[in-house]
Amino acid sequence: MSLNRLTPNLDPQALAKELSGKHFIAGEFCAAVSGRTFPVVNPANGRTIGAAALGAAADVDAAVAAAKLAQKVWADKNARDRGKAVAECGRLLMDHVEELARLITLETGKAIRTESRIEAGVLADVFTFFGGLGSELKGESVPFANDVLSVTVRQPIGVVGAIIPWNVPLLLMALKVAPAIVAGNAVVVKSAEEAPLTVLRVTQIMNQALPPGIMNILSGYGPDCGAPLVAHKHVGKVTFTGSVETGKIIARMAAEKLIPATLELGGKSPMIVMDDADVDRAVDGAIIGMRFTRQGQSCTAASRIFVHEKIHDSFVAKLGAKVTAMKIGDPMDEATDIGAIISRQQMDKVQSYIAIGKATAGATALTCCVMPSDPALKDGLFVQPVIFTGLENDAKLCQEEIFGPVTCIIKWRDYDRVIEQANDSDFGLAASIWTRNLQVALDATKRLEAGLVQVNQNLVVQPNISYGGVKQSGLGKEASLESMLEHFTHKKTIMMKMA
Ligand code: NAI
Ligand code: MG
Repeated sequence: MSLNRLTPNLDPQALAKELSGKHFIAGEFCAAVSGRTFPVVNPANGRTIGAAALGAAADVDAAVAAAKLAQKVWADKNARDRGKAVAECGRLLMDHVEELARLITLETGKAIRTESRIEAGVLADVFTFFGGLGSELKGESVPFANDVLSVTVRQPIGVVGAIIPWNVPLLLMALKVAPAIVAGNAVVVKSAEEAPLTVLRVTQIMNQALPPGIMNILSGYGPDCGAPLVAHKHVGKVTFTGSVETGKIIARMAAEKLIPATLELGGKSPMIVMDDADVDRAVDGAIIGMRFTRQGQSCTAASRIFVHEKIHDSFVAKLGAKVTAMKIGDPMDEATDIGAIISRQQMDKVQSYIAIGKATAGATALTCCVMPSDPALKDGLFVQPVIFTGLENDAKLCQEEIFGPVTCIIKWRDYDRVIEQANDSDFGLAASIWTRNLQVALDATKRLEAGLVQVNQNLVVQPNISYGGVKQSGLGKEASLESMLEHFTHKKTIMMKMA
């Protein structure tokens, strides 16, 4: 724990250079054991902004060893004091919101006003929330016999391995590490290859309030650095957010070691708009739900919008007009609503779906917004949002996660049939129903197969609201007290005979 507080660095280019080529292990920056790095690129202009340490098994060994050593002492601390340290992380991170917002914008191409600044604020809030929950690590007393005291206690698991993606790396990292640390674990994070720098800075900031070795971070590629972390014999729990494919690889590796895995995977979330819905509110809800300001790069994206035939045409016209009024451009510009896609690979994926949709008989593509004209952005990865109509629910675009600014509007007329279609998906992360009819709302919330069902809103994750999917969308819940208890502790039963 350092006495000199870090001061925010509001020059993201300089900060990216300063953070380049390093992991953070045992309270210190260090280079990869191999000495190798890989480039970090700003997707808004294609320029390299820095480099990240190229992690491999040897780096995992060092980080897990540091975590294991630190965790023993940490677990012995009073739970409330651990919480206080995590709440202090929240306070420190709050001082760095603008710095982190600028750096994450540079690194991921997300627009600073509509996305990055909000994410950086929520990051601090997650630490503040979990920091208050230390004394909620409670067990139970169990009636057994008059001369036997039978109780359960919540014990930390030990070393937690966390693997995170690039779309909302700050928030998703916080939802994993804050509860894990409060619960008495030490953590080793493997950052996403596309966004390794801002989370590294967060780790440095957090380490001002935590003993060395409790929060460690490695950068590197999934198979070379993520896989050895999951496989490491001293990692007792893995928590992951990302693709279904990688989630299954991780689940198989966890099964091999018989350790628990929390998996937050993809989605194809339905939004059902009834004919009595307030169309303007539903249109605004679709824009928020689709995360157009995040280029649609969200597992929760409302990417299947079922609109009743009576209001279908007016809904499409209003949505098209509102999305078109959004500005695609330089993510650092306060006027920009929509930034760049994270990588060439993701952009190719999104564009291939758009091409498939356009080639589908009966489908119409409404392409929104104007492309940025600034020559400085000519190599940027910008994609115009596309609203498809005329597709059936069983079309490829309505069944697979696109992870881009593409949504499908499906016209419907029969209520039972639309519920059936909404559930006809491999995924089950979130769903929403838009109506003024309370009876319909209640019925839909019961029948929709999803981890989160909202009525007349499409809000984003809050730290106290349990979040996680069913079916291929994952296993286990994140956020809330429940996630800390269920996913970062194990319950030990203690039975004491009095004589
Ligand atoms: P990914 O699931 O491959 O990557 C996520 C994280 O897993 C990264 O840190 C990566 O390095 C790591 N990883 C990859 N392979 C691994 C392995 N074998 N062992 C251990 N760790 C491994 O996702 P990617 O390639 O970034 O994106 C592909 C698609 O996944 C997207 O188009 C989107 O559909 C989905 N996705 C979903 C996210 C969500 O929020 N649920 C977030 C990011 C991607
Ligand atoms: Mg991948």
